[in-house]
Amino acid sequence: MTSGFWAVVPAAGIGERMQSDRPKQYLQLEDKLVIEHTLQRLASHPDIHGIVIAIAEHDQWWPAVSQDIACPLHVVQGGEQRSQSVLNALIELSTLLDVMDQDPWVLVHDAARPCLRQSDIDKMLSVLSGHDVGGILGIPVNDTVKRTDGDNVITDTIDRRNLWRASTPQMFRLALLKSALETAQDQLMPVTDEASAIEFFGLQPVMVEGHADNIKITVPQDLDLAQLFMQQQRGEC
Ligand code: CTP
Ligand code: MG
Repeated sequence: MTSGFWAVVPAAGIGERMQSDRPKQYLQLEDKLVIEHTLQRLASHPDIHGIVIAIAEHDQWWPAVSQDIACPLHVVQGGEQRSQSVLNALIELSTLLDVMDQDPWVLVHDAARPCLRQSDIDKMLSVLSGHDVGGILGIPVNDTVKRTDGDNVITDTIDRRNLWRASTPQMFRLALLKSALETAQDQLMPVTDEASAIEFFGLQPVMVEGHADNIKITVPQDLDLAQLFMQQQRGEC
């Protein structure tokens, strides 16, 4: 039996920039909570065998979340940084599976990205399944990019060709990603996404172009935008 593809969902953040009364993954978005959309979109993909989710210690909102999804769901405690939450989930996954003979692909996907399309998951799996390292979903930068000094004075214009905004899922083999995150942690190297840990480890992940509607809910206006994208994905506007 192949161990196939697993999803890891970091959901232990506090959502400081969202300035709401609860972490943003627990806000209502259309008929469900943000986190319920995210879990459902991952779980309903036929190739995803299971999900490991990282939840903050003392999280009072998680118990009310619907866990009625189409694949097994395992819960671990998150850490202070996103990378620690992901690492805790990977450690749990490696004890769940016997990594001696099973080294599945893992798709790490932010709880705060509820608009992920099935077609983007399909594309990642088909582009990356045969790859030696793995890769991430991203969006090409369309705007002209400027750098400023501390007083907002423009110091230079950056060539945007080959520049991307990194998003999630980020897809790597379990054993490799776990080693890369542990190495970054041991060497006190801050990593804001999985790919940077892999790069720090000396390997080169691939960029897979995804849809721009896979936004990360970050500030209050993003909820309206996510609602609009969901309507658009259903063909309502
Ligand atoms: N996350 C996590 N553990 C942390 C921090 C973040 O699991 N210690 C998760 C968040 O719940 C989110 C994803 O990582 O699903 C992306 O992080 P981000 O958008 O930065 O969320 P928050 O850290 O919650 O938001 P903020 O930075 O505004 O506080
Ligand atoms: Mg954060």
